[in-house]
Parts: sequence; C-alpha cells; structure tokens
Amino acid sequence: MWAREPVGGAFALTDHNGAPRTDADFRGKFLLVYFGFTYCPDICPTDLQNIGLALDKLGPAADAVQPLFVTLDPERDTATHLKDYVALFHPRLVGLTGDAAAIKQAADAYKVYYARVPTQKGDDYTIDHTAFIYLMDRDGKYLGFLPPSTDADRIATTIRPHLKQ
Ligand code: NI
Repeated sequence: MWAREPVGGAFALTDHNGAPRTDADFRGKFLLVYFGFTYCPDICPTDLQNIGLALDKLGPAADAVQPLFVTLDPERDTATHLKDYVALFHPRLVGLTGDAAAIKQAADAYKVYYARVPTQKGDDYTIDHTAFIYLMDRDGKYLGFLPPSTDADRIATTIRPHLKQ
C-alpha cells in the first residue's frame, strides 16, 4: 500500500540557473513534481508538454502552481543543459539537478523508481523510470498523483479545485 505512505519530503538540489534550491523554497505554492531525464525519447517530453499546457489552461490561477522537473540523469543533465530543455515546455518550469546522492534522496522521498539501462550499442544508456506527476500542497504535503500520459485538461481540472482552498 505504498500510496498510503507519505510521498514527498526534503530535497537539496540545484536549479537550471545554477542556484541551490530545497523543498522549503517552494512552500506557499502548489507543486507539480515530475522526475525524468532530458534524453527520454517519449514519455517525459509528452508529460512535460501536458504540464505546460495545463498551466496555460489554468490562466492566472496557475501563479499558485510551481512545476518542477527533477532529472534522474544528473550525469548528462547539467544545469546548463536543463535550462535549454525546460524552456521548451513552459517559461515557469524549473529544472532541478544535483549529484547522484542528492538525486537519489529526492527520488526516494517521492518513491520514484529509476535504473540506468545500457542501450543495444553498449556505449550509451537510457533510464527506466516512474513517470507520475505528483501534486503537493502549499505546505509540501502530498495530495496525489496523475499517471503518465495524463492530458492537459485532466491535469488542469485536477488542480483547479485545490487552488480555491
Ligand atoms: Ni522519461
């Protein structure tokens, strides 16, 4: 019954501008937290695009929502690399990276599974990973998750009622 256990918690990472950021920096905002990696061929870009579209659908209410993209591939996803990537999806999307231990701490807090998998060629790798969108409240408490490939309308309609509280 992992879904009944607390999801979320402390993290200490670096944002796409190179600034240190912790979970405490985002108190007061609803968070949409997504873990993935920029070389992900399929699910990550689709979900991040839907998160960006959902924010646009929420209009001014989206000011209360902070979307976060935490890389599971810090070796390749440097802050500089993340900066170019997050800009593709939404101007307010914050990319977060860090050393392997810091990424593991954040992923463990959110019960995210990830594993490096060699590609056929052997000189490259991909990352298998959980691809849920986690919704956290203004106090950093877990509200729930949306599954991979949730469309933008569904993301927006899930968040909207919380914003009135
Ligand atoms: Ni992915």
